[in-house]
This record gives sequence, structure tokens and C-alpha cells, in this order.
Amino acid sequence: MIHLNTAGAGLVPAEVRRTMAEVLDREAAAGCYETESFYDGVVNDEVYRRLARILDAPVADVALFDSATRAWCAVVPRLNLGPGDRIWVTPYEYAGNLISLFELRDRTGCTIEVVPLLPSGDLDLGWMAAHIDDDVALVSVTHIPSGCGIVNPVEEIGRLLAPHRCFYAVDACQSIGQVPVSAARIGCQLLTGAGRKFLRGPRGTAFAYVAPELRAALLPGFHDLHVAHVDSATGYRIDDRSARSLELAERSTAAVAGLNTALTLFEEGKPFDHEDVFGALRAAVTGAPGVEIIAPGTKQSGILTFRHADVGAATVMARLAEQRINVWKIVGHHTPIYMADQGVDTAVRVSTHYYNTPEEMDVFGRALREALGAGA
Ligand SMILES: Cc1ncc(COP(=O)(O)O)c(C=O)c1O
Repeated sequence: MIHLNTAGAGLVPAEVRRTMAEVLDREAAAGCYETESFYDGVVNDEVYRRLARILDAPVADVALFDSATRAWCAVVPRLNLGPGDRIWVTPYEYAGNLISLFELRDRTGCTIEVVPLLPSGDLDLGWMAAHIDDDVALVSVTHIPSGCGIVNPVEEIGRLLAPHRCFYAVDACQSIGQVPVSAARIGCQLLTGAGRKFLRGPRGTAFAYVAPELRAALLPGFHDLHVAHVDSATGYRIDDRSARSLELAERSTAAVAGLNTALTLFEEGKPFDHEDVFGALRAAVTGAPGVEIIAPGTKQSGILTFRHADVGAATVMARLAEQRINVWKIVGHHTPIYMADQGVDTAVRVSTHYYNTPEEMDVFGRALREALGAGA
């Protein structure tokens, strides 16, 4: 099997699977709460320290969630905005994030504006510099979108925004684990990501870095016994004001311990050294007849999207699956602003990681030519 769908979910390493199996075995043999106590050091301390190191963020500012959307929704809907506030998104914004921004707009009367692109597909940073003002309350940038492989210049944007009032949110779902991500260098106040993609963690794991100034500015939210304490018949107090106050108590010990193992492997490995695989992927797709590559921007990652005038994305995906090659059919409405502009309803997304080899890309290239050659 050749897995070219890490942008969906990466292949979980054997060590991660083993950690999770050990946790589940112990839960069955000794009890779930008892197992959580046994793994307390891992799931309540080590995993946070590792994540903080990887994100280049203070440990008190990182929190774990079961999905990146949940991480985003723990923060963004609680922004205290009004009709005078503007939110900037880019054409590469993820649809799930947009839904909560539209809800926020409808509830608060704030407005949402889309940062324009240059003809190359790169974000127009000149426009941003010229138009940023103190009524911009939030700027949201997806580091690498789910629909195509552009790497947006999140650090440069952070420098541009730093003197201004706005909070800066970066969606690092598709970038964390495949390109360097440093919350400190980006200068954002919110960074969200998923464990299951390029970090190769389990499904149902995700995280956020939430800066203290952003946490302090949020409208009151919901807390449970994870951080709050009912201390009288009529009142409660919050014991923990760290980013963990955004979490809820209940979660999967196996998933969190598995994430910790994935982060350990990530810290020990050199996952950024796979330019040769990216190059081979690009050559394989470019060499296929009739293919239109959807790759805006000057800087690309290991995600490559394309479509074919005659052979639909679902057919390409099914034909490659027969050859035991995993690619994914993406839908335009998941990256709706950019894809609608390009008239893309569906396309094939191929995503590589360090476990893929240039030889696999050759096999994929041959299988792709065959899949397209068979016609519609
Ligand atoms: C760029 C981007 N942001 C956010 C998400 C949402 O992640 P989750 O499914 O963990 O909520 C995805 C999922 O693929 C994504 O690609």
C-alpha cells in the first residue's frame, strides 16, 4: 500500500499503536480511571511539555482537544466583537473555521473581509500592510490549506500585524509536522492543529496554543470539573487559568498517550527532510497527460492537488485504490473561497510525508497515467 493521504490522516507508527494498545489492555484489566492514574505523568504533564517544545510556546498556553475544529471553537466564538469590528480571512480559509466565523458575524454584527491574492496566488501582503487598522479585531490565516499545497508566509504576516490591535490566528492543521511551525516566531495568539495528520498521532487528538492575552479577552465560557470546583451550595471557583481551562475533563487516555508517543517520535526524527519526495510527486503529476495542477503560490508543501477534464476525481481515486494507492477526492467547498473562484468542485489531492519514497512516486506516476489513460 502506498499512502498518499497524510493530509487526511497520517499512518500511525507501530510505537503509537503499541502505546494505545497498552493503555486499552490496562483499562480492560485494571479499570479506566486506575489506568489514567497510572499514566498521569504522561497524559497530564509530559504530552503538554512535548507539545509546548514542538510549538515553541509556553506550556501553560497549550491545551488538548479531540479535533482541531473543537480547539478553534473553544476560542473564536468567545471573541468579544461588535458591529465596528472587522475579521480578515484569506481565500485559503478552511470551511469549518469559516462556519464559526459566519456564526460570530451573524451574532455580533462584525464584518468579514477576504484578503486578496496576487496573480501568483500568494497573499497580497502589500494590501494587508496598507489596510490594517485598529478596527481589525482578528486575522485568520491557514498556514497550508486542506485543498492545495501553498505554504502561506505566516511569520511575515505576524511581523506585519504585530504593531496592531488584532488577534492573529493560524490554522496549522496541515503544516504541523511537515514544515517548521513556531508560535513564537509566527507571533500569533491562537494556533490550532490536529494530531492525526503530519504528526502521525491518533485520530481524535488535536491542540491549540492560546496566548494569555487572548484567553484574558474571551467572553466567559463553559468549564467543567477539569478546572472548576463547586465550593459552596451556590458558587464555584476556577482553579486553573492556564490554556487547559479551555479543555473538558473527559477524554481518551489511549489517544492522549498515543499522541505523546507520536510527539516523541516527531521530536526524535527529522521529518522536514523530504524535498526529494515532493519533487518526485510533482514530476509524477506533471508528467500525466491532461492534468491541471491546482497549486497557487510560490512556496509549495507536500500536498499537490490536480483535476482532469474527462476523468473525475472519484474515478481517479477508485482506480488508484485498486492499485493499493491512497489519494483523496477533495471537495471545493472545504476550501470554499479559493476553490469557488477557480471553479473547482472536486479534485484529487495527493499528500506525501517522510515515509513516502521517490520510488513510490514513480509507481504512483505510472498508476496515475494508467488511471487517466483508461478514460472516463
Ligand atoms: C486546514 C484545516 N483546518 C482544520 C481542519 C479541521 O480539523 P478537524 O477535522 O480535526 O476538526 C482540517 C481538517 O482536515 C484542515 O485541513
